Amino acid sequence: MRRFSRITGTGSYLPPRRVSNQDLAVELATRGVETSDDWIVERTGIRARHFAAPDVSSSDLGVEAARRALESAGVAAAEIDLIIVATSTPDMVFPSAACILQNKLGVAGCAAFDVQAVCSGFVYALTIADSMIKTGAANKALVIGAEVFSRILDFTDRTTCVLFGDGAGAVVLEGSETPGILASDLHADGKHVGILCVPGTVSGGKVLGDPLLKMDGQAVFKLAVGVLEDAARATLEKAGRTASDIDWLIPHQANIRIMQGTAKKLKLPFDKLVVTVDEHGNTSAASIPLALDTAVRSGKIRRGDTLMLEGVGGGFTWGAVLLDF
Ligand code: UT7
Repeated sequence: MRRFSRITGTGSYLPPRRVSNQDLAVELATRGVETSDDWIVERTGIRARHFAAPDVSSSDLGVEAARRALESAGVAAAEIDLIIVATSTPDMVFPSAACILQNKLGVAGCAAFDVQAVCSGFVYALTIADSMIKTGAANKALVIGAEVFSRILDFTDRTTCVLFGDGAGAVVLEGSETPGILASDLHADGKHVGILCVPGTVSGGKVLGDPLLKMDGQAVFKLAVGVLEDAARATLEKAGRTASDIDWLIPHQANIRIMQGTAKKLKLPFDKLVVTVDEHGNTSAASIPLALDTAVRSGKIRRGDTLMLEGVGGGFTWGAVLLDF
């Protein structure tokens, strides 16, 4: 019998401090940086984001999302045999946020590691977990996206600091006789490293280079819409489905205009888009599982729905996962 993987539970967590565009504009003005609620809403669709307290790490956010996903799946932490955390803002250089999160969950022994594919991290991590479950290397996986992007923002650069937020989302993925995950399609093109990066590193006991996020927004925007359409079409073809089979499109939540552009290219009505960028901002690898859990808990997404998850971001990386929920 063929073996598949299925999402059996979802969870998410946002740090309590909600910062509206207006709050941020006031804060930035004290540094001589000019922005407005109107500009941010019109260009991105973002109205607010959440920022974690200074002592809160990605694994702190991730473990809360993981606990909620476990609860909704009816699975005990001790039953998990694989933990993958997608993050670009890990707690430490090493060990992984996944190992730290595993300890916070109060379990030990199962495989745990991080995936670094920036805003595509969650679709990469989900594809790896799906592959490991299909081969029998794992049976019950926690796949988590967790980020504290507020730590790597340059609050003197209005072209980037208004876009990102902190948060975490998680799913429990279990072995199953029926799909589940139908197909996925992952890509990277390293020649675009410079258009979205944090170029600094730690060397000889010091930070070497700039440790804050740099983005050529227009270059990212142009690439994003094209690759998101290609990845969606490739995934549908692998699964033998068509765009009209998609009940919900859950793209990486970076900019409402990119999301609507992708829906348009796939000829999907905008009401099939799951949108949380308005309240979460861009939470990088956390954005897709955060959007998924929000839509599941609001009753929008139901069991049996066909979902297209799509990530795109630094690397340049992109990919899609098609699944029956
Ligand atoms: O997570 C990975 C994926 N990331 C993305 O998908 C991000 C993709 N890129 C974008 O979402 C958009 O390119 C941005 C939202 C980053 C920028 O939107 P845009 O429509 O491309 O604006 P722009 O860069 O062309 O800037 C237009 C104007 C400029 O002023 P001038 O040169 O026309 O006078 C900017 O200086 O808007 C100005 N501007 C701002 N004004 C007020 C840029 N940022 C701000 C700001 N507030 N925060």
